[in-house]
Amino acid sequence: MSEARLGLPNLGFGVGLRTPHYPHILKHKPDVDWFEIISENYMDSGGRPRHVLEQIVEQYKVVMHGVSLSIGSTDPLNFEYLGKLKKLAEWTKAAWISDHVCWTGVNGLNGHDLLPLPYNEETLQHVVSRIKTVQDFLERPLVLENPSTYVTFTDSTMSEWDFVTRMAEEADCGLLLDVNNVYVSCFNHDLDPEDFIRSLPHERIVQFHLAGHTDCGTHIIDTHDNFVVDKVWDLYRLAHKLTGGVSTLLEWDAQIPDFDVVHGEVLKARDLIRDGGAAPSTPRHAEADSSASEQPPQVARRSATVPQPAVFVAAEVE
Ligand SMILES: [Fe+2]
Repeated sequence: MSEARLGLPNLGFGVGLRTPHYPHILKHKPDVDWFEIISENYMDSGGRPRHVLEQIVEQYKVVMHGVSLSIGSTDPLNFEYLGKLKKLAEWTKAAWISDHVCWTGVNGLNGHDLLPLPYNEETLQHVVSRIKTVQDFLERPLVLENPSTYVTFTDSTMSEWDFVTRMAEEADCGLLLDVNNVYVSCFNHDLDPEDFIRSLPHERIVQFHLAGHTDCGTHIIDTHDNFVVDKVWDLYRLAHKLTGGVSTLLEWDAQIPDFDVVHGEVLKARDLIRDGGAAPSTPRHAEADSSASEQPPQVARRSATVPQPAVFVAAEVE
């Protein structure tokens, strides 16, 4: 790697741009460091989403986050999709383009789920080769995120962190460390999340994701429908220490509360770093009873039926 973090800047503390917040953002122009947009929601749209995005990019820094690259699929790379991605990145002046270490479809079909890969040599070489092709086409580094996973493969021969480390170094790409995903996957697979984070190539991490999840007791589902829990804040503090600090983004995709609540959650990250203290104030009842239906009384939810991220994207794109 020629330069630490591939020369990408620390943008500060951002929020995922979501449809229910469009009116608030356009009217109040909140003091947000940056927005992350779901690439697929704007690639084919010439209507309202594009009109809103036009106003957003005039006032805010933007990063593009995709869910359909399917870097691990055995299907050929989709150059029509990549062409649209490149055009959108040029138009939005996106600071970088990210997606996930996963596959989302096969035989030309998009299942709109971020499916896990077997972590072995064959998969690694397949993914590394495809990342290099994508980066050459986009003429910029690709940034890839660790997904939340619920199954493992008997074909895996290495840990996820070893796979991700070798992938980033051999393909010369960046990493988006989703701290909540680390917690979710490690809980589901009985692994140590601190080991996971300590074992990554920290100089290649250019962005963090934070989000809430649903603890079902025997397993955790990455629902993005609640506040960040204290254990994830603890991991975020560790990741911040090991990386020296990178752009941080809060994702909230279901039961989306008012914009100020979502923005306030990412600002806890800023306060945590500044104060160097304990995990911030995750509402006690949100952690004590992890049921998704238990919500802080002060939060006005906009919708109880907004589906999870990939489906959310599909609904808007199709
Ligand atoms: Fe994420």
